[in-house]
Amino acid sequence: MRSISRLEKTLFRLQSQQACLAYAFAEIAGRPGPVVELGLGLGRTFDHLRRHLPERDIHVFDRVNRAYEDCQPDPALLHLGEIEETLPALASRLSGKVVLANSDLGSHDRELNLIVAAMSARLLPPIMAAGGIVMSDLPLPLDGFQSVPLPPGALEGSYYLYRAPA
Ligand SMILES: C[S@@+](CC[C@H](N)C(=O)[O-])C[C@H]1O[C@@H](n2cnc3c(N)ncnc32)[C@H](O)[C@@H]1O
Repeated sequence: MRSISRLEKTLFRLQSQQACLAYAFAEIAGRPGPVVELGLGLGRTFDHLRRHLPERDIHVFDRVNRAYEDCQPDPALLHLGEIEETLPALASRLSGKVVLANSDLGSHDRELNLIVAAMSARLLPPIMAAGGIVMSDLPLPLDGFQSVPLPPGALEGSYYLYRAPA
């Protein structure tokens, strides 16, 4: 059997991301708390988050703002710079409160992916609420977190879901 093409890989990742987001929205319904988006990029997932979670504070992190004009986050909740520095700076404000974090930091550089995955796995746990959901485009070595089976519509290995300890 042939291996999947780049086009299929991108398609499956986006389908899986959307399915995981739908799962996460249902999981956090009725649970107050902010949301964190690591990797604003063009603002596509941020736009999806804000349309589905209009009442939530969505803290967005990236080193630069390259988002579409109509996908701009609230400047007060946009944290520009290296996540290694910007996220710890907010740790006391977010500590134990975040009900959903989407880590979307992957690129085509495998070595860099290992580094950013390790960074997310190190920086996210202190800010997550008990039972909060972490979604990621990369597998994250999250100590003590439960790996959540992917919902229907998501393809194994295309996106990753975790739940913080209760
Ligand atoms: C795959 S893109 C995000 C895509 C975005 N979620 C979207 O839907 O358009 C990854 C983003 O992560 C950012 N990024 C990666 N590592 C970072 C780091 N260590 N600190 C800050 N930003 C980082 C990059 O600048 C890039 O914009």
